[in-house]
Amino acid sequence: MEVQSMKASSKLMEVQKVLHMNGGNGETSYAKNSTSQNKVISMAKPIIKKSVLDMYDTSFPETITIADLGCSSGPNTLLAVSEMINIVDQRCRQLDRSSPEFQVFLNDLPGNDFNSVCQSLPAFHEKLREEKGEKFGPCFVAVVPGSFYGRLFPSNTLHFVHSSSSLHWLSRVPPGLDAKANPPWNKGKIYISKTSPPDVAKAYLTQFQRDFSLFLKSRAEEIVAGGRMVLTFLGRITANPSSEESCYLWELLAQALTDLITEGIVEEEKLDSFNAPFYAPSAEEIKSEIEKNGSFELDCLESMALDWSQDQEKDECDKLTKALGLARAIRAVSESMLQNHFGEEVMDRLYQRFGHLLVATVKGVKHINIIVSMIKRNT
Ligand SMILES: C[S@@+](CC[C@H](N)C(=O)[O-])C[C@H]1O[C@@H](n2cnc3c(N)ncnc32)[C@H](O)[C@@H]1O
Repeated sequence: MEVQSMKASSKLMEVQKVLHMNGGNGETSYAKNSTSQNKVISMAKPIIKKSVLDMYDTSFPETITIADLGCSSGPNTLLAVSEMINIVDQRCRQLDRSSPEFQVFLNDLPGNDFNSVCQSLPAFHEKLREEKGEKFGPCFVAVVPGSFYGRLFPSNTLHFVHSSSSLHWLSRVPPGLDAKANPPWNKGKIYISKTSPPDVAKAYLTQFQRDFSLFLKSRAEEIVAGGRMVLTFLGRITANPSSEESCYLWELLAQALTDLITEGIVEEEKLDSFNAPFYAPSAEEIKSEIEKNGSFELDCLESMALDWSQDQEKDECDKLTKALGLARAIRAVSESMLQNHFGEEVMDRLYQRFGHLLVATVKGVKHINIIVSMIKRNT
């Protein structure tokens, strides 16, 4: 019994081996269900543009080195990078300068569908050639598997770092919440909830602080002085970590799991020993880590609310279609972790139930995204 429980908890500790968005191009893939994250990148474009231009106009590097961290696979993977290249290319034309070379690094965890990413590269290069002509670049693209919570690149080599919709994933489930405890610490829940003891929120905040400070420390070593970093991730506006804006969907997933326990499909102990490696920080919590780190000047920090629904512009899109679209989007990002813990055989049933709960709830679901732009100091 004890050996089994140790195996279960050590399995859970390996978040970085388990977590990946659903690969390929099928119905439940991230590629087919990432419209919402695509909108986040679009909304961040003005900030990306200002940041890229400020960097380029102050240093005119002959080779611009860009890293996109948490690139996943699908239509969003090269979206921000393409935008940055376009911005620099237009600027060069305005100034009648020759194009710099580009070195692009696409990073994600090793379980990411890098095959799909690599297969999309010939079309990416072809498009650049068609749109920008022979005098452009060249642009070199490499994939870098590994965790962004640690060093990924040599010292002082990156001019621009971008990461979208990724830093809300923690490197691990907070200590104490990743094992079977008796009595369970966060009974019947899988993230911070209104009924969680205050220590649960504290453990999540502590893990976020550890992870984000390591992220900043690593990037501070890799980014050149004057280099830039633009990050977007899920966060919250209120100071309260159990507010609905960041907990609502986890609450519904926990409810769906509870319903499967009632049906005898999932064991209660399984639910009590699972917590998500996720944290939606407030603006203050983010600022505090940037200040503590001291290597970056905060250029801007903004919050924006986005409707989770994939088809929010289509009036004719009914509530059921929207809810099922949202359930697929949540499945594309969370299935790898839930499947690892609860088993593949319950996944269809779980996300069906989750979809029905979404239909039954009257409120529209909004999520808060934080955009933060930073400049690497000279020291
Ligand atoms: C929701 S996807 C975002 C993908 C893409 N940037 C976008 O905006 O659509 C989050 C990505 O972050 C990656 N990720 C999570 N933790 C990571 C880590 N510690 N290191 C590198 N990538 C990580 C996940 O594997 C996933 O592909």
